[in-house]
Amino acid sequence: MSQESRTILVTSALPYANGPIHIGHLVEYIQTDIWVRFQKLRGHDCIYVCADDAHGTPIMLRANQEGISPEQLIEAVGLEHRADFAEFNIGFDNYHSTHSEENRELAEQVYRAHFKAGHITTRTITQAFDPEKQMFLPDRFIRGECPRCGAPDQYGDNCEACGATYSPTELKNAVSAVSGATPVEKESLHYFFKLADFEPELRTWTAAGHLQTEVSNKLSEWFADGLREWDISRDTPYFGFRIPDTEDKYFYVWLDAPIGYMASFKNLCGKTGRDFDTYWGKDSATELYHFIGKDIIYFHALFWPAMLSGAGLRTPTAVFAHGFLTVDGQKMSKSRGTFIKARTYLDHLNPEYLRYYFAAKLGSGVDDLDLNLDDFIARVNSDLVGKVVNIASRCAGFINKRFGGQLADNCTETALYNEFIDAGDAIAELFEQREFSQAVRRIMALADRANQYIDANKPWVLAKQEGQEQTVQDVCSVGLNLFRVLMTYLQPILPAMTAQVETFLNIPTMRWDAIETPLTGHTINAFTPLMTRVEQEKIDAMLEDSKEHLANAAETITSGPLADDPIAETINFDDFAKLDLRIARIAKAASVEGADKLLQLTLDLGGETRNVFAGIKSAYSPESLEGQLTVMVANLAPRKMRFGVSEGMVLAAGPGGDELFILHPDAGAQPGMRVK
Ligand code: 2FM
Ligand code: ZN
Repeated sequence: MSQESRTILVTSALPYANGPIHIGHLVEYIQTDIWVRFQKLRGHDCIYVCADDAHGTPIMLRANQEGISPEQLIEAVGLEHRADFAEFNIGFDNYHSTHSEENRELAEQVYRAHFKAGHITTRTITQAFDPEKQMFLPDRFIRGECPRCGAPDQYGDNCEACGATYSPTELKNAVSAVSGATPVEKESLHYFFKLADFEPELRTWTAAGHLQTEVSNKLSEWFADGLREWDISRDTPYFGFRIPDTEDKYFYVWLDAPIGYMASFKNLCGKTGRDFDTYWGKDSATELYHFIGKDIIYFHALFWPAMLSGAGLRTPTAVFAHGFLTVDGQKMSKSRGTFIKARTYLDHLNPEYLRYYFAAKLGSGVDDLDLNLDDFIARVNSDLVGKVVNIASRCAGFINKRFGGQLADNCTETALYNEFIDAGDAIAELFEQREFSQAVRRIMALADRANQYIDANKPWVLAKQEGQEQTVQDVCSVGLNLFRVLMTYLQPILPAMTAQVETFLNIPTMRWDAIETPLTGHTINAFTPLMTRVEQEKIDAMLEDSKEHLANAAETITSGPLADDPIAETINFDDFAKLDLRIARIAKAASVEGADKLLQLTLDLGGETRNVFAGIKSAYSPESLEGQLTVMVANLAPRKMRFGVSEGMVLAAGPGGDELFILHPDAGAQPGMRVK
């Protein structure tokens, strides 16, 4: 089991400092933390750093709105983030901020190196400008009617109703979301990073095993599309770092965000005396890993290695992307109560339940991950409480009451014990490869084995028989030794429970290589319950606390859906009869390459099928829709979209934004039936 010690630096993506941590974020922090704890348990020198991503327009505007300075906002949010992470046992070795002196220095250093080498260029561009607030408007802060389908209140870059993408100048009746003023067009000088200068190098790097296969494939498409220049400057007012040798230009938040990884590490060096260059120098022999969500691959697999390399720094050993979280098969939703903040979760449930559940579902790929709440209850209760804790609770009482807490002098089941130890290499490899769900499966199979052993030997029966004292002690000591091995394997996933187990078993901090020898003649402490069952009521209370209720619509229509979207002009029956609404079965649902909001649906009308592009991806995963019945407009003229022809429309309700609810008929409806 002995192996060379490795020196590893790990990061998770930096959360924006303008909002709370939620369970969607936690997938990544839990995934990374498990991996880091595993490396530490194996005896490696592994450091995990992170920081708040503190710059950008949304942070500046939110601070304005709250009547505080951006510095005050990021300070307050930073404290909340740290507290949430600490309670989920995310064991950062350092947590910093991108709004820090280390980050300013490093961002300037990287920028100057690129500037000097000719990788930065400038040109004047025209953008939407808010004449009232005297600021340029990012696309997200412009709203108007979709130039293609006319849907109201769409963002400046894409339509959530029809999936069209366009430039903000094409929006009809555009307004600034900041002031309500009509934006004007204005020119300004921008700084661009010439990404294409790095194309040959990036082509080699992205194909050299630093990325997951599905990510490398995506990269090939991006190379085929051509690497465009990246706009790295923003005009004042902006909360960020001023670009050296300019009066009023700021680094775009995404320029200094990844540099924040280095800044956090540099800050740690200041506290611990570690050597910055050993980790970040061009020929560093240390390993560097970035855990990220699949939405920010472009930044980490193209811009970031190019920025590092051009600045004479090392590039990452690997970038590990993961998928998004759905809850009960659907996108997290404020009205369903499934947009669960870390804090709300902590108010009701033990963080280790979620760590375990995510581990039990996580693999090394970029697939989305579903938190199915019924499954969550079942798995935690059956695996952790019913299997793992059960082993200890069945054995500890006998050892404590009858043998003064002392384990037997010999391990009487060497073969069984060795079976548990021998499984360690395979389990370690699964952790190393981030195949946590498979690791959990192996560990739970061992837990079953331990329980079978106890069931077969029945210490509770032996304890009542004369002359069986020694056997009772032997069996329970074997049980507790097997439990110790299991808890060592589970330590990266369940650090808090493991700490309790260390106290109970009266052993030093667990290490992977300490379990080779079983505990014999050793005295343990009293057993205290290690984990209680998940209760449905707690889940219900958490969902209730997470619900954002619409204003009481019955009392007044100055708020709620009717106020925002009043009932349309009266139509006559003939108008209505023109609409041919049909029940359709969603035979197939798939994401559409290049369209963030669209799903491609194959609708079965009970005789013919239709291909429909629906802007519902924000609310539904494709898998959750297949097989469902819904209602479609069957006689809508086919429309040619960028991705193909859409032959109809499915009906959905929603307040706008990402919240959407597709309509389902009552039981008994059949595909093809007319809706009247
Ligand atoms: O997407 C985000 O939430 C960004 N704040 C992540 C930044 S990661 C890194 F590059 F800083
Ligand atoms: Zn549209």
